[in-house]
Amino acid sequence: MAQVLCQLPGFHDENLIVGMDTYDDAAVYKVCEDKAVILTMDFFTPVVDDPYIFGQIAAANALSDIYAMGGKPATAMNIACFPNCLSTEVLAKIVKGGADKVKEAGAIIVGGHTIEDNEPKYGLSLMGFIHPNNVVTNAGVKPGDVLILTKPLGLGIMATAIKADLLDEGAVEKAAFIMSYLNKDACDAMLETGVNGCTDITGFGFLGHALEMAKASNVTFEICSDRLPIIAESIQLAKMGIIPAGAYKNRSYVGDRVVFSNSVNQEIKDILFDPQTSGGLLIAVEEKKVNGLLELLKNNNKTEFSIIGKVKDKDGYFLEIV
Ligand code: CO
Ligand code: CO
Ligand code: CO
Repeated sequence: MAQVLCQLPGFHDENLIVGMDTYDDAAVYKVCEDKAVILTMDFFTPVVDDPYIFGQIAAANALSDIYAMGGKPATAMNIACFPNCLSTEVLAKIVKGGADKVKEAGAIIVGGHTIEDNEPKYGLSLMGFIHPNNVVTNAGVKPGDVLILTKPLGLGIMATAIKADLLDEGAVEKAAFIMSYLNKDACDAMLETGVNGCTDITGFGFLGHALEMAKASNVTFEICSDRLPIIAESIQLAKMGIIPAGAYKNRSYVGDRVVFSNSVNQEIKDILFDPQTSGGLLIAVEEKKVNGLLELLKNNNKTEFSIIGKVKDKDGYFLEIV
């Protein structure tokens, strides 16, 4: 989408703090000196069989772009596409899943729109608030910063395996828990700490989103592949070749802006390009604040998180995987 949007004629408005040009997570528009609104929307096709859990995941994913900017979600509108042949009870469960997550986020549902479509789709259009001076963007990352990821990778591979009925119930539940978990706790921790940059890891995969952040900040990310949080099952699945098509698109998008050490196995590379559904936050934080941030995450965040690398002066590649 971002590539297509770039071809639109430029829109200029002095109150637009974050727009389309930085590949950031959401738009930020200043309303007055101490208030800006954050606007974002996201919707997609089911990633799990259970309609209620699908609704939760789609909502958590849409809300994530507000959290990645350091914002507080306020209002949500449902976007739904739904086939006539399915019972409306299924739609009701999807929307209930979404509504429960919106409630958990402290926001409210204020409306929405449904159209008929052969393939069901669901998501949210959201509005949130933030102080104009506190917007966390892609572009503030500094050399010396430490990189932290707040959810394990491998979610696209897990979703592909769920569609092919390759996972047992426990593995499905684990993936569903991670995807439906709000990035709210990670966002609260990063706001309390004060960080230099953040993005959420979604469809472009870890390396696609990391690249946008490294580019926007003109720095190099050195990622330690053995420190990445990864869902154990997804490593086995990647070895078996259960990899979503989007991973190959992401690899060609990142292209020669990443370099891998010889020690990095193929399945880890595949997982680094795997498109994530409702993935975690990638946070860049000053070294002296790292322990404080980890402590807050340990106390509040219920998904696996880890220090995964550091930021260096830009040298050659934007991304170095060691
Ligand atoms: Co995002
Ligand atoms: Co998004
Ligand atoms: Co951002």
